[in-house]
Amino acid sequence: MTTEIADCGAAGVSKAVELLKKGAVAAIPTETVYGLAANALNANAVRDIFKAKGRPQDNPLIVHIASIKMLPPLVKEIPDIAYKLAERFWAGPLTMIFKKSEIIPDVTSGGLDTVAVRMPECTAAREIIKKCGFPLAAPSANLSGRPSPTTAKHVFDDMNGRIPLIIDGGECKVGVESTVICFKEQKIHILRPGGITAEMLSEFGEVEVDKAVTAEPAKNERVLSPGMKYKHYSPKADVFIVNAHGKQFLEYCLKRSRFENGLIALGAGVAEDGCFMDYGTTSEIQAQRLFALLRKADEMNAKTVLVEKPTTDGVGLAVYNRLLRAAAFREIEPARK
Ligand code: TXA
Ligand code: MG
Repeated sequence: MTTEIADCGAAGVSKAVELLKKGAVAAIPTETVYGLAANALNANAVRDIFKAKGRPQDNPLIVHIASIKMLPPLVKEIPDIAYKLAERFWAGPLTMIFKKSEIIPDVTSGGLDTVAVRMPECTAAREIIKKCGFPLAAPSANLSGRPSPTTAKHVFDDMNGRIPLIIDGGECKVGVESTVICFKEQKIHILRPGGITAEMLSEFGEVEVDKAVTAEPAKNERVLSPGMKYKHYSPKADVFIVNAHGKQFLEYCLKRSRFENGLIALGAGVAEDGCFMDYGTTSEIQAQRLFALLRKADEMNAKTVLVEKPTTDGVGLAVYNRLLRAAAFREIEPARK
């Protein structure tokens, strides 16, 4: 199969809609990362997403809608707080989990009795959903285990020959996947941190961050969000988080780079020189650049990537969560003087 890249203007949108209506898979831009979309209500179409990605069957997909009107048929009930959060944060990078209705096929929900729903902010994405007239299931458009794609080129690198069409909407604004929440004992429970932060959600009720967000799940432990248990976001290089900042981070990386080939260091606001690449001084910029830099490290044949530990508040928690998985939870504490 040849893979076409079309821009997100009217012609591209129509092409995507035509394919999706036929039950095919197409990659679409969103404000978080690119998604690999198909009709969420068509089990065969959704099966093809799993095939294209090489994704484990028990990992459920997020269902994307274009307006709040599309939500009630997908779910059994909508708690009041969900309406309040939708009003404030939709369209945007927030995914909410509900009890699913009968029209959601089991393959879409990975066999769970719940369904994850979000309304993307990206206009092209919503346009495509609206014109299709059905919700789109869309995981991130990377091969399973690889860093999520934040440009159409990233999608092409992973999906060339596997899907017919990629809609190019430019660089994703947020850069990490949406915040995933469920409602547990009256609390807002964060399963995956993202652009809508714990601090932002706390205006609406008590917020709890699932322990799997920052802790390595024990073998065979049941996790609330199946995606948490898989190794994720991994470039081919070995990634390590380095808990040192400024001069101490620079010195640690420089010392190692003298003895190691293929070492790249991602520092917050470092001068791009030698092995150093800048991944930004704010959590928002770090989120936006992280996956692209991990992919770039691969293109440069890096063997080791050392990343300065991000802050863990605000969007920083999302950056840290993705990095922990890319690094298989390996964090280095350079000896303190
Ligand atoms: O920003 C995003 O959310 C992107 C764009 C394309 O919208 N999509 C995305 O999808 O990140 P994916 O499939 O890569 O990640 C979905 C996450 C997984 O960790 C999955 O386990 C979790 O959401 N999830 C989906 N349905 C769930 C459910 N019913 N219960 C618990 N977790 C669920
Ligand atoms: Mg993903």
